[in-house]
Amino acid sequence: MNRWNVYVTNEIPKPALDMLEEYCNIEVNRTGEVLSKPVLLEKVKGRDAVLCLLTDPIDAEVMDAARGAKIFANYAVGYNNIDVSAATERGILVSNTPGVLTDTTAEMAWALLFSVARRVVESDKYSRMGKYKSWGPMLFLGQDVIGKTVGVIGAGRIGLSFAKRAKAFDMKVLYNSAKANLEFERETGGEFVSLETLLKESDFVSIHTPLLPATLHLIGEKELDLMKESAILINTSRGPVVDEAALVKALQTGKIWGAGLDVYEFEPEFTQGLLELDNAVVCPHIASATIDTRTKMGIIAVTNILAAMKGELPPNCLNP
Ligand code: DGY
Repeated sequence: MNRWNVYVTNEIPKPALDMLEEYCNIEVNRTGEVLSKPVLLEKVKGRDAVLCLLTDPIDAEVMDAARGAKIFANYAVGYNNIDVSAATERGILVSNTPGVLTDTTAEMAWALLFSVARRVVESDKYSRMGKYKSWGPMLFLGQDVIGKTVGVIGAGRIGLSFAKRAKAFDMKVLYNSAKANLEFERETGGEFVSLETLLKESDFVSIHTPLLPATLHLIGEKELDLMKESAILINTSRGPVVDEAALVKALQTGKIWGAGLDVYEFEPEFTQGLLELDNAVVCPHIASATIDTRTKMGIIAVTNILAAMKGELPPNCLNP
């Protein structure tokens, strides 16, 4: 079998790169920076495969520059950065890395939920600034989690993993998704409700839906208005699912109590005002960032490339 010429658009964990290098000639962007479009267009030329990230816009222009490439293997479960129809039209395979980051991402949603509810980041900053002088009855009062209602938007793998953990905190689970999901209900005891009911009745709302035309700005001013003033919004899915300007306004005016965010509408930019808010915890898209999970994602992306190299359908092929 001929060794393929593969471009990797950013450094990924070593075990995955070693595995790829065993069978292919590879070049890795080791600058730590996201490639600009002109550099990306240049780098993909003459490659058999490209291992790309969610920060690389893989559109028709990139595919045409990569003429001859057989596969774009995305190092992410989300693939809104790739024009899959354009790839299919050109006979190029596209793959992602589902499954391995499910629990890790759900874990991060809980971490954000607790951080905001119990004001962990804000109070940590206070301690470090030398402001902690004595125990105070009114110091950093937060929101209880146990026994409350959590609304889960999106009942896919990550939404399910997130919702399963709610049992441990005696929480009532409401969920909304394109359609009712019996497995979700069996495993979580969750009740399928309209988005409006979910927003009105939940103390915590956690978003786990992919970015699609139908989910763009799914949560905007109108939806935030429906939420309780004590409610907390968590987003570990994709930033544009939330109208970030409307969210900043809702947080500034106390329309909702807080937000835990891992993703942003104009990533890596933050909407003006967001970083000044104490009632928002803002993480830099790290929901899948554990050593084990990022390694597994790399192995899966490489497995997809190697399958294509053997003329097989990659296990996580996204082309219809
Ligand atoms: C994904 O995989 O889509 C996450 O956003 C990053 O791991």
